[in-house]
Amino acid sequence: MPAHALDNGLARTPPMGWNSWNSFHCDVSAALVEATADAMVAFGMKDAGYTYVNIDDCWMLKQRGARGELVADPAKFPQGIEAVAAYVHRKGLKLGIYESAGATTCAGYPGSIGHEQADAAQFARWGVDYLKYDNCGDYQGKTYPQRYTAMRDALAHSGRAILYSICEWGNQSPWDWAPAIGNLWRTTQDITPRWSTDQPANRYPQGILDILDQQAGLSQASHPGAWNDPDMLEVGNGYLDDDENRAHFSLWALLNAPLIAGNDLRHMSKEVREVLTNREVITVDQDWGGHQGTKVRDDGDTEVWAKPMSDGSVAVILLNRRRGPVEIATTTREIGLKAASSYTVRDLWKHTEAASQGSISASVPTHAVAMFRVWPGNGERAR
Ligand code: GLA
Repeated sequence: MPAHALDNGLARTPPMGWNSWNSFHCDVSAALVEATADAMVAFGMKDAGYTYVNIDDCWMLKQRGARGELVADPAKFPQGIEAVAAYVHRKGLKLGIYESAGATTCAGYPGSIGHEQADAAQFARWGVDYLKYDNCGDYQGKTYPQRYTAMRDALAHSGRAILYSICEWGNQSPWDWAPAIGNLWRTTQDITPRWSTDQPANRYPQGILDILDQQAGLSQASHPGAWNDPDMLEVGNGYLDDDENRAHFSLWALLNAPLIAGNDLRHMSKEVREVLTNREVITVDQDWGGHQGTKVRDDGDTEVWAKPMSDGSVAVILLNRRRGPVEIATTTREIGLKAASSYTVRDLWKHTEAASQGSISASVPTHAVAMFRVWPGNGERAR
């Protein structure tokens, strides 16, 4: 761990939860947040590890109150944020909120720059457990690290454990400085619910592959308590089909990414629910085997990504970026497994197991992955 790592004891594994933005944008309310908390429990997501219910932009009034305080929009949150926090806490879940490290949020509501201490104290009084801190509004001459450090320190003095999510869109190589400041940091501009845009990276709009391509090379920055954030999930949204949803979820898990669902949890299909609650894939996300997943092979239209697991196994993804099925192959040596006379290969989507002498391959359909976890030896590993 770097010498100056943020030491707030939070996010020892990548945070899991839900956020309103990807499906609802400014259309947030207490009713939506509470019904989402209900759905998280009812559909098995809480049992699978999802904890945070996060309100994104547009929750407040356009003006601060008479004492300079942030005011929740009474039309959207009639009983205020505190009541929503209490509701979410009664479900055994945690509440997240959104602000910006500038004079305004991206949707034009009051930002927190210059108000860090008071706003953090207010979030703490309300019972907020998670802050996503965005990058819109005037910076008042301050640098990125200054703006994000000011809120880190305010949260540390707030008297409440509040997980700190930095959202500066990968603008100033946050992987170099944010691990000392936040529990996670966005690595890119905003995600959109499509497979790929066939445009250069770092341009709007970005699909799953565009975001993925910007994650290669960032693995040294993350560790327990501090995670690269390739943005919130689009599983179940927009133009993504079932194979694309599975691929997106698999890749984010291999990257030890925060798993923050962005779909409407109240009305999701069985297929989408099965993706979001695949425990074998979630286990890969939540396990720390020394570094997040990396790309170990790039053949253009096909790629191999691998991640060490703490029990000595390796998780591996065979990715087909293009249209049409393709046979993809790797080896236990290529993905970093120690030499052994045989291996156990478990398919994390089909939930089947096979023995191997060292080769790992699959026919992978259009825009899809095969995902395996591979143990040295023959079936004697701990599950
Ligand atoms: C930015 C962020 C998004 C979302 C919106 C809200 O674009 O990157 O994730 O929070 O602002 O306005």
